[in-house]
Amino acid sequence: MTINMILATDLKGAIGVGNKLLAYLEKDLAYFQKVTDGHIVIMGRKTFESLPKNSRPLPNRVNFIVSKSHKAKSNEKVFSSIEQALDEAKKLAKETKQKIFIIGGGSVYDYCIENDLVDVVYLTMINKDFSQVFKKEKIVYLKSFETIKRWTNLYSQIIKDGDLSTTRLIFIKQRERTLNN
Ligand SMILES: NC(=O)c1ccc[n+]([C@@H]2O[C@H](COP(=O)([O-])OP(=O)(O)OC[C@H]3O[C@@H](n4cnc5c(N)ncnc54)[C@H](OP(=O)(O)O)[C@@H]3O)[C@@H](O)[C@H]2O)c1
Repeated sequence: MTINMILATDLKGAIGVGNKLLAYLEKDLAYFQKVTDGHIVIMGRKTFESLPKNSRPLPNRVNFIVSKSHKAKSNEKVFSSIEQALDEAKKLAKETKQKIFIIGGGSVYDYCIENDLVDVVYLTMINKDFSQVFKKEKIVYLKSFETIKRWTNLYSQIIKDGDLSTTRLIFIKQRERTLNN
């Protein structure tokens, strides 16, 4: 079963600052909505808390939260490990034909890439270096940024989003071939 990941970074792999996104990207948010609509989304507790109250849990999607501390409310599903969340998501996806998306944040993205849990990455790259904007704040960087960029690039489109230029990319992981195939 394909495990997808969707994110926006800057040119250096920054993904957030002060538990917020780097910038408001209207077209990219619409793209995120369209790609994930109706599917299963898996996120870390901090990303869940960063969502606006009126769209938390994200509407029209099955929201899985990974946390060892968060207490689930009636409409939330919380898992104490990423593997547990993925196992449950796979079971559900088999029945419902929904897709599975890892939607952040940094710790969850990196864990999934480092542990070989992701097959496809939908990456919107903002063509800007945000370390020049947030000089004093602690920026969250994707440690696995360079790894993803080495994957096979299937799609690339430059899109102007407000004042910013972005590049919408899709990467797939190449499975190692054995001598027999
Ligand atoms: N650019 C993008 O596309 C994008 C997308 C999403 C988020 N973001 C940004 O990313 C930033 C947040 O990232 P983050 O790395 O600080 O936080 P995060 O990954 O969203 O959440 C971290 C929390 O998730 C739980 N968690 C993570 N790995 C776990 C594991 N293996 N097992 C159990 N629980 C686990 C822990 O919760 P407990 O402490 O409760 O145990 C941990 O403290 C924000 O700035 C946000 O805006 C950016």
